[in-house]
Amino acid sequence: MRHLMSPLDFTTTELDRLFDLANDMESNMEKYAHSCEGKKLATCFYEPSTRTRLSFEAAMLNLGGKVLGFSDAGSSSASKGESVSDTIRVISCYADICAMRHPKEGAPMVAASRSRIPVINAGDGGHQHPTQTLTDLLTIRSLKGRLSHLTIGLCGDLKFGRTVHSLIHALSRYEDIHFIFISPEELRVPDYITEMLKTKHIPYEQVIRLEDSIGELDLLYMTRVQRERFFNEEDYVRLKDFYILDKTKLSLAREDMLILHPLPRVNEISVEVDEDPRAVYFKQAGYGVYVRMALIYTLLGLSDVLSKAEKEN
Ligand code: NCD
Repeated sequence: MRHLMSPLDFTTTELDRLFDLANDMESNMEKYAHSCEGKKLATCFYEPSTRTRLSFEAAMLNLGGKVLGFSDAGSSSASKGESVSDTIRVISCYADICAMRHPKEGAPMVAASRSRIPVINAGDGGHQHPTQTLTDLLTIRSLKGRLSHLTIGLCGDLKFGRTVHSLIHALSRYEDIHFIFISPEELRVPDYITEMLKTKHIPYEQVIRLEDSIGELDLLYMTRVQRERFFNEEDYVRLKDFYILDKTKLSLAREDMLILHPLPRVNEISVEVDEDPRAVYFKQAGYGVYVRMALIYTLLGLSDVLSKAEKEN
């Protein structure tokens, strides 16, 4: 049985096969429409979500399966003090696979260690968000045609943004990747990430102004300032509108640069940018369904995506 806690849990070969499967699902929805009949997905969300939870549910419904779950901790027995370990043991009796989001870093990992069914980390605190990363990679691979030879700008809250942390780890396994981290000083990527990049000899720069580097980028990954992870509201208010991508700034970018955003967007991308062909964040949200379909199908043992040796681990 395999779980998904980090994007690094799958080898790059496995990811390639997963993305091929997701592309096939996108073009042949009918072929997979009954493949998970009789199976149930539990979505256990202890933190707010729109896209991730609903795209998991849509994915399972597209595969002919059923869904159950809760969307806030207050309506689950966590409010009575139940531990994640106990909850997952119970869920293991009710469902075949579980997607879990939790404000505490590592909580889905604890659940996986006690679970009898595959557990997918749907976001744990400011740590990781592997299925958003699968979505991002599928978007880049489908629209750019490659995951290597890329200059990627990540802009916004690089300190608390878990999607950023997962994406950097995932992209660091591909050839000729160059990162440009664009953030205010206070919201820089954590040291453990820059240490990892140094160890792997992956080039990165840290800059403050978006205008200075936007012209060099193949991809611009915008993020919102993560209000819920700030210790005080004053800092949030000071930093929340630090970056606003508008038409003027975008005029400095290359014609083929893609703009991604995990969403939700607050103010960091002006709505006037939405009509630009380089703005692919809504398309990206659509890829999230196909990749989650491929993931559920795979973790339920229905595909050949996972290599035998790893499956046996
Ligand atoms: C992200 C998250 O939850 O980390 N949202 C998502 O799942 N698409 C990004 C965010 O909340 O800023």
